[in-house]
Amino acid sequence: KKKEIVMSGIRPTGFLHLGNYFGALRNYVRMQDEFECYFMVADLHSLTTHPDTKELKGHVHRVLAENIACGLDPDKVALYCQSHVYETAELYLYLNMLAYTGELEKTVTFKDKVRQHPENVNAGLLTYPVLQTADIILHRASYVPVGKDQEQHLEMARKFANRFNHRYGDVFPEPHAFNYGGELVKIPSLDGTGKMSKSENQYATLYLADDDDLIRKKVMKAKTDSGPTEPNSVMPDYIENIFQLMRLVSSQEVIDKFTADFNGCTIRYGDMKKQLAEDMVNFIAPIREKAESIRTNEKYLKEIMEKGAEKARKSAKATIELVRNAMGL
Ligand code: ADP
Ligand code: NA
Repeated sequence: KKKEIVMSGIRPTGFLHLGNYFGALRNYVRMQDEFECYFMVADLHSLTTHPDTKELKGHVHRVLAENIACGLDPDKVALYCQSHVYETAELYLYLNMLAYTGELEKTVTFKDKVRQHPENVNAGLLTYPVLQTADIILHRASYVPVGKDQEQHLEMARKFANRFNHRYGDVFPEPHAFNYGGELVKIPSLDGTGKMSKSENQYATLYLADDDDLIRKKVMKAKTDSGPTEPNSVMPDYIENIFQLMRLVSSQEVIDKFTADFNGCTIRYGDMKKQLAEDMVNFIAPIREKAESIRTNEKYLKEIMEKGAEKARKSAKATIELVRNAMGL
């Protein structure tokens, strides 16, 4: 029986962080044994906001190395660089004719980016969800492991795939966002303001490349207060965030202890953050060290990318043939 198909990607716009890991990478690693997987470094997507390509190659290598360090096996999956799979551009073009500017302008991420970079509102930014759809359905993927911030993009991918199918005939399965826990996740930032991200306040984000002392420093700076004064109080968001991070890396025993301390008003946030910092260090350090040793092996990374592109293009070419036939081109 043919395995179901999985596709996802991460932009090479900077260091990977805990949000990328728990929203996306952790799922990739678990899915690689069960599914036919295509995972890419989304260099074309990064051009919408980072047009300067001086550091792009270095970032691509870094993301690849971090993917592998997290447990992705290039022999089990197609691990490739988006720009190496030219068929993406062809499908993107066809899909652009099916996407309406009105619906693209309403995308939340588009509106955010217009606010952040009013000087560079390029057409690629507007059609980002179209390119993302092309990436996914180019492999006729059914599952897309992503964080919660990608929910709306996946809705659009389903819409465009269905629109193609209705107009030209059934070629694409419906792609669905996927997370092993069921609900998609949003890893909070350390300053209590939103999600961890590559571009926001650097101190509020834990990167997989952070050294031990930097991890400790960042965790100790996380926002707290003087603690609850009544038993079983409602937890403020910024404290709930610290517990959420703890649930990712700490033992059940530790979580239970601090939960009981909170409910009994005896919690000491300094101690809690010290514990979280050590558990974070133990989680991140081995990934950082492994990634560093892979990142500097350019020959190995080049081989991986070539092999990955070959697998991805095989799948892409088969889809493009179906698409051209369906469209009568
Ligand atoms: P970023 O948002 O940091 O620039 P990308 O846009 O390249 O990263 O996203 C790569 C993957 O990481 C996507 O699947 C995205 O949903 C996921 N992701 C990013 N930030 C978070 C977060 N804070 N929590 C959960 N998942 C996240
Ligand atoms: Na994102």
